[in-house]
Amino acid sequence: SVDVRDLGGRPVIIGGGIAGLMTALHLAPEPVLLVSRSELGADASSAWAQGGLAASLGDDDEPALHLSDTLAAGDGLCAAQAARRIVNAAPDAIEDLARLGVRFDRTPTGAFRLGLEAAHSRRRIVHAGGDGSGREVMRGLVAAVRSTPAIAVVDGIEARRLTVEDGRITGVLANGSKGPVFLATGRVVLATGGIGGLFHDTTNPLGSWGQGLALAARAGATFADLEFIQFHPTALDGLDRPMSLISEAVRGEGATIIDETGRRFLDGVQGAELAPRDIVARAVWRHLADNHRVFLDVREKPGATFAQHFPMIAAACRKAGIDPARDPIPIRPAQHYHMGGVAVDMAGRTSVPGLWACGEVASTGLHGANRLASNSLTEAAVCARWVADSVAGSLDSGRKQAVALDLPAPNPGSVRPLLSRALGVTRDGERLKEAARALLLLQQQQGPASDPAAVGLMIAVGALLRQESRGAHFRTDFPSRAAVASRSQITLNAAIAAA
Ligand code: SIN
Repeated sequence: SVDVRDLGGRPVIIGGGIAGLMTALHLAPEPVLLVSRSELGADASSAWAQGGLAASLGDDDEPALHLSDTLAAGDGLCAAQAARRIVNAAPDAIEDLARLGVRFDRTPTGAFRLGLEAAHSRRRIVHAGGDGSGREVMRGLVAAVRSTPAIAVVDGIEARRLTVEDGRITGVLANGSKGPVFLATGRVVLATGGIGGLFHDTTNPLGSWGQGLALAARAGATFADLEFIQFHPTALDGLDRPMSLISEAVRGEGATIIDETGRRFLDGVQGAELAPRDIVARAVWRHLADNHRVFLDVREKPGATFAQHFPMIAAACRKAGIDPARDPIPIRPAQHYHMGGVAVDMAGRTSVPGLWACGEVASTGLHGANRLASNSLTEAAVCARWVADSVAGSLDSGRKQAVALDLPAPNPGSVRPLLSRALGVTRDGERLKEAARALLLLQQQQGPASDPAAVGLMIAVGALLRQESRGAHFRTDFPSRAAVASRSQITLNAAIAAA
């Protein structure tokens, strides 16, 4: 039997990363229920972020420069208005985080210590604990949430369906530690993160396989730009899965990318190691495909300060048996971030009344075809305030009756080989068609357990329909950019019909 909880009009936030925690904190003192799969913060990809948060805080910087770097990296596909609003609000969001207790790295005078990452024209990345930024941001936010009485936290809950009546959200069906639960609420915020668990090679927790996309898809929501998946060029090429990230900040401090002969094969590329991430990832990918080995060389720069500035990365290298002071670090591209997601407006509203999305699961249009480094935590922190304002200002219409729940566990493992093969750094129509057909079959055969297949299907169809190469979406059969950039839209039903 389903345990029915009448939440007394409280909204529900699904997901315990930076987007979920910040939304809850901004909603308080309005009472809110925050549910997460595991102990708060334990499984959130936010905690793994090394790079930090981008904001124009330096004396030589301004939001207009942050905007133009964001638009250039996004390869013509960013929603310029959304991007402008988000970068304008970024410095205040960093101050919000600091006020909530996040201890950012500072200079001796107390100013934020600002780092450089690829495709940024200024030093504007705020870090915390060197390469442990995500961990420190999460520590600060989890502590703030725990000491906010208005926020009730329930972990060990996996949301599996949203109920919709007359086109509006009426509740969340979930598997809890003691069995099925129905949370009666008319206001739900998805803050579930990305899709790393759909790929073999990823820098993200494997438990993030697009749950929020599946929930939104079954509720009938519209998605934007799902085919745009960012691959990070410098994941540590060892045996561990998920893979350890070697932050772009290391290249920001002068590390170079070389092959087994010691050649810097990116030296002909504009921006070289600090070119936009999609360009570096493709160059590394092609060099590997040409039977080279590829390494990140930190011996000269950052040199002796490497382990001190990047303690987590140094530890990951040591764990893999590499001494970066002596040996170049073997690298390969790995799935890192999903630019596309549930289509939202600036208040985080999806196409389904009563459903909001915030953070990586959402697509505001900020990232376009290729996200600028360290714009993701910034986006989550900025948009959480607008989402909270919108949720607070809307009426609840949750139902009070139970709905049956009999949902077998989803199986992302069955989808992983298909997406890894067809939706990697380079794509082509044949492989995409094959993947779309196989995913359609899985989505039919696996019934209610087919959520990962449904998500994969929408992504594959999105990639098949985009017959151009732009940003992180590179089609070997359509290598040029279309004259006009257009954001894509899809629903689960449309993907099923097109596959
Ligand atoms: C990195 O540290 O290289 C990743 C930063 C990001 O993905 O924004």
